[in-house]
Amino acid sequence: MSKEFKSMSNVDGRITPTAEACVPVLDRGFLYGDSIYEVFRTYSGVPLFYQQHWERLENSARLIQMHITQGRDEITEQIRRTVHSTSAGELSKEVYVRYVITRGEGPVDLYPNPELKTRYVIIVNAVPQWSPEFYRVGMKAAVPTVRRNPTDALDPNIKGGNYLNNVIAITQARELGADESIILNRDGYVTEASNSNVCFVLDGEVVTPGGASGNLRGITKKAAREACAAHGLAVKDRDVHATDLTKTTECFVTSATREVMPIISLRLDDGDVVEYPAGGGEITRKVAQFYREYMEEHVRQNAGFSLW
Ligand SMILES: Cc1ncc(COP(=O)(O)O)c(C=O)c1O
Repeated sequence: MSKEFKSMSNVDGRITPTAEACVPVLDRGFLYGDSIYEVFRTYSGVPLFYQQHWERLENSARLIQMHITQGRDEITEQIRRTVHSTSAGELSKEVYVRYVITRGEGPVDLYPNPELKTRYVIIVNAVPQWSPEFYRVGMKAAVPTVRRNPTDALDPNIKGGNYLNNVIAITQARELGADESIILNRDGYVTEASNSNVCFVLDGEVVTPGGASGNLRGITKKAAREACAAHGLAVKDRDVHATDLTKTTECFVTSATREVMPIISLRLDDGDVVEYPAGGGEITRKVAQFYREYMEEHVRQNAGFSLW
């Protein structure tokens, strides 16, 4: 019988079909969102920017004073086992991997006892297939009324299991007929999209909100920036106020699964809509191409580290 790709998950070493995987109700990730995670995709089975994802996970752990009981090698080995259990290698299927570390299980008590043993959960799916229209034309975006968590309340660099701020943002954007949200902070500056970073072309330059506005240090954005720099195209940090948005001429988002995805329109707070070129303007298309070449080089250099 020919093999079929099946999404599989691993909870503390126990691998099952994803639909059957579960965590105990007293897990702090479930009770309090007391968890951190990373998501990467593969190309030819090679986990993209694996090292950077680990560094960011460890930074998230530091920011919430979580000591990860399991080591990098142990989790890597478990990721490999889980990917193997999906038959992705035999089927040459690229995968999406989400690995979550929860603070573990303990009494119902907000204070996280430092003695708790962290739990890992690894979910392996097929890479998401975004609508081709999102690349051919672009996503419609809207500014939601909800504001991004202030950095001194819940630092967006904690890539954690509490995404309610982003859930509210994307829900409001969908209610406005958009596909994605571009979230402002309390001072009216752009931060990021609900689960991707955002860049604009403004005054002929590629710009992106700096960290102080309140956004996650995206690994794809960093790679795109390095890719562009190698071609002499600067991606500059710049505070972008809501009132600057009508002057932006291109817009795109970046993330591990979307890569470089154009935005076709942005609905502002007051209902006005800024239109962008279909399929990304000239600069967006260049960024996408530079990123693709950079990513392919990364995969070539790391070909020995395939999860297939
Ligand atoms: C809030 C948020 N911002 C930005 C990103 C993009 O980060 P990356 O490029 O590392 O996927 C993500 C990705 O999950 C995210 O959740």
